[in-house]
Amino acid sequence: MEDRGISQAVIGRLPRYFRYLGELKDTGVERISSQELSELMKVTASQIRQDLNNFGGFGQQGYGYNVEYLYREIGKILGLDQKHHFIIIGAGNLGRALGNYTNFEKRGFIFSGMFDQNPKLIGMKVRNISVQPMENMERFIRENDIDIAVLAIPKNGAEEVAQKLVRNGIKAIWNFAHVDLNVPKDIQVENVHLSDSLMKLSYNISRYQQENG
Ligand code: NAI
Repeated sequence: MEDRGISQAVIGRLPRYFRYLGELKDTGVERISSQELSELMKVTASQIRQDLNNFGGFGQQGYGYNVEYLYREIGKILGLDQKHHFIIIGAGNLGRALGNYTNFEKRGFIFSGMFDQNPKLIGMKVRNISVQPMENMERFIRENDIDIAVLAIPKNGAEEVAQKLVRNGIKAIWNFAHVDLNVPKDIQVENVHLSDSLMKLSYNISRYQQENG
């Protein structure tokens, strides 16, 4: 399937399609028109058609989209047909919350290890995973086919940890540390800043108040 050169904006919308289609599939819906999907997702039908045309369509005139097929194909585009093993660095509030979220497994992301520099946290269990000291991390990555690392530590130290991750073959970093990491181009980094989302919400509250008095 041709998905090179697809804009990040389209890629960014795919998880939402995937989520909605998954829900439709689970409730037994077999097919849906772009119009119906548009009403459900509150995006225009033309946006849906344009987005999905990037990947060769999937729809048929007069039939709409086959939900199961579209769900599966978008899953493939997102790489969700493969399993990814991930570790979490930082067993604080955020790291534990992420480790405790069981739904990642349903998407093929397998929580495999957790590391922290605080000796008091070593051996603590998050689900069935024991927190290990940082000294174990590099070997663990190499021996357990780990491809994603979640950085749930403060920005001081994040860069140093990232370099170790890269040296040991990590392919991607889900970065919650508030710092832009300096890693080679072939390492995929997704920066997450929950406060950015909150600021957007704040902006929308102010705008709504201004417009509606
Ligand atoms: P926390 O203080 O509860 O946990 C941080 C943990 O990281 C501690 O257990 C500490 O021992 C460990 N740690 C610190 N430096 C380390 C290093 N170099 N190597 C290994 N372990 C190390 O903090 P919390 O609430 O879990 O947040 C973690 C970080 O994530 C904070 O820096 C916070 O600013 C950031 N954060 C980012 C968010 C985002 O949306 N990007 C949202 C919430 C927190």
